[in-house]
Amino acid sequence: MKFKPNKTLIFKLLTSFLFYFPCLAQEKNSFSISSKNNITADSTLYYKESYRSQFHFSPEKNWMNDPNGMVYYKGIYHLFYQHYPEDIVWGPMHWGHATSTDLIHWEHKKIALYPDQLGLIFSGSTVIDFNNTSGLGTKDNPPMVAIFTYHNMENEKAAKINIQTQGLAYSLDGGETWIKFKNNPIIDNSSFRDFRDPKVFWNDEMKIWNLVLVAGDRAQFYTSKNLINWKLESEFGQNSGAHEGVWECPDLFKIKVKNTQEEKWVLLTSINLGAPNGGSGTQYFIGDFNGKTFKTEQKDIKWIDYGTDNYAGVTFNNTPNGERIFLGWMSNWNYARNTPTTNWRSAMTLPRTLSLSKINNAYCLQSQIIEPFKKQLTTDFLKKNIILQKDQEKVFSYPNLNQSQISLKTANKDLKLVFSNDSKDSLFLNYNAKKQSFSIDRRHSGKVNFEKSFGEKTHITATPNLISKTIDYQIILDWSSIEIFLDGGIYTFTEQIFPNHPYTKLTIQSNENQKIHNIKFQSITRIW
Ligand code: FRU
Repeated sequence: MKFKPNKTLIFKLLTSFLFYFPCLAQEKNSFSISSKNNITADSTLYYKESYRSQFHFSPEKNWMNDPNGMVYYKGIYHLFYQHYPEDIVWGPMHWGHATSTDLIHWEHKKIALYPDQLGLIFSGSTVIDFNNTSGLGTKDNPPMVAIFTYHNMENEKAAKINIQTQGLAYSLDGGETWIKFKNNPIIDNSSFRDFRDPKVFWNDEMKIWNLVLVAGDRAQFYTSKNLINWKLESEFGQNSGAHEGVWECPDLFKIKVKNTQEEKWVLLTSINLGAPNGGSGTQYFIGDFNGKTFKTEQKDIKWIDYGTDNYAGVTFNNTPNGERIFLGWMSNWNYARNTPTTNWRSAMTLPRTLSLSKINNAYCLQSQIIEPFKKQLTTDFLKKNIILQKDQEKVFSYPNLNQSQISLKTANKDLKLVFSNDSKDSLFLNYNAKKQSFSIDRRHSGKVNFEKSFGEKTHITATPNLISKTIDYQIILDWSSIEIFLDGGIYTFTEQIFPNHPYTKLTIQSNENQKIHNIKFQSITRIW
């Protein structure tokens, strides 16, 4: 009898054999992806100087640091920012101003606040006084009220203590022009050298205005009925959290714990020095606030971002659905003044929606890029499954890496991602499953030697909560930044990078056999 091969059986045997021994499969190892977006730098074009962020906010010219006075009013998001309009280094501070209807595209406005005889205009916040409690407007035309820090240079030079006080200014035309309050300062100070960065908000439960500011190593909480007369209620923090440097730029807000009815209060405080990967960073506390005092049971130190470049971030007041939208300054005081840009300096992070989760009985703040950002994305490449064999490389050539979003999902296993170009610049990202850590090595990422601490070492972050069986990676690269969101922003890393030329190659590798799911390369349309 003649043997008749059963084709279906053979096919089945072969496919299952290849699944268990994938090294024998003829998997593609290199992919060439083309893109519709042209990312050539050309310093003669608007916002096309080398390293200019293409889809992050940056000032048109000169120096910028902290975001200030972020508020939504009548369909417009207002972003004010620490600004020195005469140079690309820090100098006498003004409030720069920009507006947006979608938080993605920005319109530059004229400078909102100039220094005066009381001092320079340091960081602060803005509210809409809808009930005209201040009497500075009318109920029909409520005033936009900014409360900020005055920094007095004469007193600083004379080595006095009281160099910082809080001032008020208001606008009756939606933030176009500003009037300084005639009885400034509204909060005086005789005790603290560092006494600044007031964040004001309407406490709807208590029907009172609250203000939180930082005084050296602690936060202070104030109440007011009219935004002008303030009463100190309590302090928090002298014995909590990180304290290597002074506290700066606080924020305080209530937020729902995801998938529950529970509500908690979040206190953000930036700190310089003492961030987990050096220099400036932002820690947070989860607790309760009754309008006067803040309490927490939190023992560990929590950070909103584990990268080196997300500082002084706070959230918008008065957002349409009460969502918490956060913006940070994408730099670090260790080297902020030395980064290799020409006629402007630094950018903000992408706007991020904050949410609070409870994972393994611990509260955890998650950051996710705001939804409308998706409109900027064009998918250039998508593959459902890629088999990554142990120690074998998958190489993706893509001219637009420095203006793209890369997303993928893997099992909770080792993964190495290397962004590189023909000029031998390489940026390494590494997830180590056994050690439960994520590292960023920008030592050879491009220009690094403008300041010693910039490219000094690999930034390693312990990621103990990353216990899910799969990990989502979302990586966003602009011309001089990378933002990484692991598992929906449970861990977030923001860093500046200055490649000599845009990266053109992504190499993916693992020490274990891995499957990569839903790998996507999307180019990002510029906003300018
Ligand atoms: C934070 C900070 C604030 C201060 C401002 C001055 O980066 O130091 O504390 O108000 O910058 O520009």
